Amino acid sequence: MGQGSEPGLDGITLGPRQAGPIYRQIHERIRSAILDGHLPPGTRLPSWNSLAGQLGVARGTVKAAYDWLAGEGYVVGRGPAGTLVNPDLRLPPDGPGGRAAEAAPPDAAGPGPEGDPLDPPWASPARPFQPGVPAFDAFPRKLWCRLAARHAGRLGPAEMGYQDPAGAPALRAAIANYLGVARGIVCSPAQVFVTAGFAGALDLVTRALLRPGDQVWFEDPGYPRTRQALTLAGAEVVPVPVDEEGLNVEEGLARAPDARFAVVTPSCQAPLGMMLSLPRRLALLRWAARTGGWIVEDDYYGEFRLAGPPLPALKGLDAAGRVIYVGTFSKVLLPALRLGYAVVLSPETARFAQVASRLVPGQALPVQKAVADFITEGHLGRHIRRMRGLYAERRRALAAALQEACGARARVDARDMGMHLLLRLPPGTDDIALTRRAAEAGLGPVPLSLWSAGAGCGAGLMLSFTNIPAEAAGEQARRLAALLPSHRR
Ligand SMILES: Cc1ncc(COP(=O)(O)O)c(C=O)c1O
Repeated sequence: MGQGSEPGLDGITLGPRQAGPIYRQIHERIRSAILDGHLPPGTRLPSWNSLAGQLGVARGTVKAAYDWLAGEGYVVGRGPAGTLVNPDLRLPPDGPGGRAAEAAPPDAAGPGPEGDPLDPPWASPARPFQPGVPAFDAFPRKLWCRLAARHAGRLGPAEMGYQDPAGAPALRAAIANYLGVARGIVCSPAQVFVTAGFAGALDLVTRALLRPGDQVWFEDPGYPRTRQALTLAGAEVVPVPVDEEGLNVEEGLARAPDARFAVVTPSCQAPLGMMLSLPRRLALLRWAARTGGWIVEDDYYGEFRLAGPPLPALKGLDAAGRVIYVGTFSKVLLPALRLGYAVVLSPETARFAQVASRLVPGQALPVQKAVADFITEGHLGRHIRRMRGLYAERRRALAAALQEACGARARVDARDMGMHLLLRLPPGTDDIALTRRAAEAGLGPVPLSLWSAGAGCGAGLMLSFTNIPAEAAGEQARRLAALLPSHRR
């Protein structure tokens, strides 16, 4: 197992092609060996050539697997020294999440609700740059209408009465299957609760598990609606700063070691866009396992890595069963469907079912069944693949157009995740006033500063590219650039 040898990989074997693409099988074998401790941090992996020769596959196939592992933070490239298992990984002795412990005690009551002065107008077409909404022009309308009509028209006696508030069985089963394939999450339909988007899932989770005054770690900057919802639910929100590796777990431990929840966006930090690094993922899981804390994983943009395969969900590493995974159809389909889901741990399903049946009404049956068909007939996978391509193209076009139109007055910060990019503005710029001017001009950016609770993430604008066709990018960029402060002097 020492450096220079090829520990843990001697016995590596691949399944038949039907077991999945070869690079994915190699990735999975090495990832498991790292998590099992067979490949400790710092271990040197075989060279691409050597492993390719050993396995009888092309060198590029091994490289693809290594690149993927590097993207997730499991390995690091060290030039001539080869590829090492990330030396910064700290694995707990009994698996990635460690051992579950008793729940933390309740704490004092939290502050009152905050305002959100910049809500977009409800029920309006997407304004250029408005974040959080998918490409409306690329939504498969005809297909959706066919599926919706199929179920709206097929109302037998069983469909006319009250339904299981946890969700339609067909949709729960479709989501469980989808998560296994698309997000690496193994769960049963009984663990899936269909909700009114992420917002409905958070409501269900807090009603089921939050006690008044519980402390909740929340990313700073972070989604203001989640921050406000937690406060309204009676939590004491503890802002925890994020850096290039995502949520700073050490800081969370220093500020509120006994917090009962952490609400995080590991695949794509909202709003800054970085991924929660593997060392941080493991540290967060260790914290939850040790204290009995709950991690709510908000995977709102999880499907939208615009270059390379999607990054795995935190839930996939949750050996101790502390992660409640939440997905939403607001981004992969439409916000108007008001559909999302929470994956709940088996011991808690009865409690969630009770809360759902008494406090959180279920969603409209025909819509649920249409979405179930959308998934099981393969349309969702195809639609997401198409949107990834379209978003990559629109993001590229908008980033280039903005940089040209804004010049030195702003810096474009565009990552390969999610549905928006950031326009960073010089320190001291009033991004809220700028957003107001933009709204008057019919544009829909969101000010970055509004997402910060105290850590400060600088001035800037969140700008969605989803509804700006590449050929319109130049014109929209110029409209926005005309509003930037130095242009007005
Ligand atoms: C961080 C974050 N989480 C979740 C959501 C989705 O919320 P919902 O499913 O309620 O539409 C959004 C929407 O913009 C978001 O920004």
